[in-house]
Amino acid sequence: MCGIVAVIGSREAAPLLLGGLRQLEYRGYDSAGLATLKILGNDQPGLLTCRKAKGKLVNLSSLVEEDGSPGHLGIGHTRWATHGKPEVHNAHPHTDSLSRVAVVQNGIIENYRSLKQELETDGVEFVSDTDTEVIPHLISRELRYLQEEGLSANEATLLKAVQRVIKQLKGAYALAVIWVDTPDAIVVARNQAPLVIGLGEGEFLCASDTPALAGFTKTILPMEDGEVALLTPLGIELYNHQGDRQQRTPSLLTGGEYFADKSNFRHFMLKEIHEQPDIAELWVARHLPAGLPEEAPVALPFDSSFYESIDQIQILACGTSRHAALVGAYLLEQFAGIPTSVFYASEFRYSPPPLAPNTLTIGVTQSGETADTLAALAMETQRRKANQDPAFAPRLLGITNRTESSLARQIPNILDTGAGIEIGVAATKTFLGQLFAFYGLAINFAARRKSRSSQEILSLCNDLRSVPNHLRSLVDTHDELAEELAHIFAETQDVIFLGRGINYPIALEGALKLKEISYIHAEGYPAGELKHGPIALLDQRVPVISIAVPGIVFDKVLSNSQEAKARDAQLIGVTPDLQGDEIFDSLLPIPEVSELISPLLTVVPMQLFSYHIAAHRGLDVDQPRNLAKSVTVE
Ligand code: M6R
Repeated sequence: MCGIVAVIGSREAAPLLLGGLRQLEYRGYDSAGLATLKILGNDQPGLLTCRKAKGKLVNLSSLVEEDGSPGHLGIGHTRWATHGKPEVHNAHPHTDSLSRVAVVQNGIIENYRSLKQELETDGVEFVSDTDTEVIPHLISRELRYLQEEGLSANEATLLKAVQRVIKQLKGAYALAVIWVDTPDAIVVARNQAPLVIGLGEGEFLCASDTPALAGFTKTILPMEDGEVALLTPLGIELYNHQGDRQQRTPSLLTGGEYFADKSNFRHFMLKEIHEQPDIAELWVARHLPAGLPEEAPVALPFDSSFYESIDQIQILACGTSRHAALVGAYLLEQFAGIPTSVFYASEFRYSPPPLAPNTLTIGVTQSGETADTLAALAMETQRRKANQDPAFAPRLLGITNRTESSLARQIPNILDTGAGIEIGVAATKTFLGQLFAFYGLAINFAARRKSRSSQEILSLCNDLRSVPNHLRSLVDTHDELAEELAHIFAETQDVIFLGRGINYPIALEGALKLKEISYIHAEGYPAGELKHGPIALLDQRVPVISIAVPGIVFDKVLSNSQEAKARDAQLIGVTPDLQGDEIFDSLLPIPEVSELISPLLTVVPMQLFSYHIAAHRGLDVDQPRNLAKSVTVE
């Protein structure tokens, strides 16, 4: 996590850094800092100014406004704490003992303990609890060695020092370095953490993610793993891990520019929940236009070879994306007839199942930057490539909302969830986009494998066409309804969510949403599991939200809900109006639709319920504590 920015050019750096950090705040927001370098004159070291503030970026902005931070070059950081509490002394940039080298870093330096010990033996005193602080000290030491070897204090020396230091670092990181002796140079480097250079008119801005380039430039140069770049007002020098100069043509950023805007909504999350009908409409218009061929009833960007000879599917994801994957697995197995397994990416990386032939591996990540998902996919690709048998060759698909992300660069086949940038840390509209992607895949697999009749496929397509309208009336009516209910339960300590079959993942998602933004303990269970333990938790203080949709498990869910009610639990039904009103104490009614498409609707009351509880409790809905939108550390 964390976001880093570096800028060099002819304008004041501090406002550009703050502007970039504002767009990266989704990556972490427990503290922020920047350092600028002002040129004082020929052959004089530059003036290094370092400003840091605990809490949101706005605190840093006020500090910079009051105290200033002069210079046309600088580096900035917005933090999500990994090593060391969110305090000013742990905020980046970190410097060497003489405050001559300053560094911002996103990632984790895994071998920092041994490096720190070694530096302490050399007499270095550390002032923070972070892993990052070893870097400026190491660079400072290498600069000293290089100068003792006869090199002068110029940007080539800084570059060399950074190149030497990154050979000593283990872990995934992106970093930016400045040195008072080179007040017109920045060195940046990346290893398994994103970093993109934006090329402006006589200025360069380097950042963890493209939104930081909004309003600056559309010409970009994404850096590759192991690369180091020297940025000066004259241009960019790019080097690979071996130190060989690289020449790469910059590319044009498409659709990556945005400025965060809440419209008239109180929070981004609420705005994003309300955007879902439009996202559904867009998906239907793009992917379900009339007159598609029978073998590809949903328009996806893959030719027939993509679907051929797939015997099974494995899906790797984290958090909400994993919940979408669980709905996807249900569709792929129950509708398209393909055995499908879903894995936590973080678990898969270290304990993958034995290799199976003809397997499609799908990585789902809205940000396209989740470290565990990217690493799990890379590991799977490697072990498959190592196998000579073509049946084991990697077959990969990425589902993401960010088509310019690291995932999209790592994997050739990408399904764009097309939900537009999501700012709220709690995923809502991107979850819906992921669900739609799985419906599209399942329908196409079913059509090509002939696991469903044309009539069944047509019927599902028609049901999907009705979703935008259903969603529109749901978001309109449920906002108030969910708010009323949320006020009743705002002070509750625990909530249990129940679902079964295709709606079990929605129970998990409902519980995750509530935990994330309201800090209320919540668990999602398959309703049939309640009696195997969790029922012991129930009494009149524990509300149970039960998703009961007419279909194969409807009666079962109702019975399981009765079991909860018999233990005095307050029962809230996410169910069609007429079916449930005798069992449930309160209703979040949903339209009566086929069970197969119901997750596209049942998730909305969950989102709104959590949102209103958190808003009622006066919490920071869009930037909940301890979380970040993009989880770029392991
Ligand atoms: O970007 P990703 O979809 O890979 O992110 C995965 C999770 O970190 C993410 O879904 C997280 O659980 C969200 N905050 C959920 O609202």
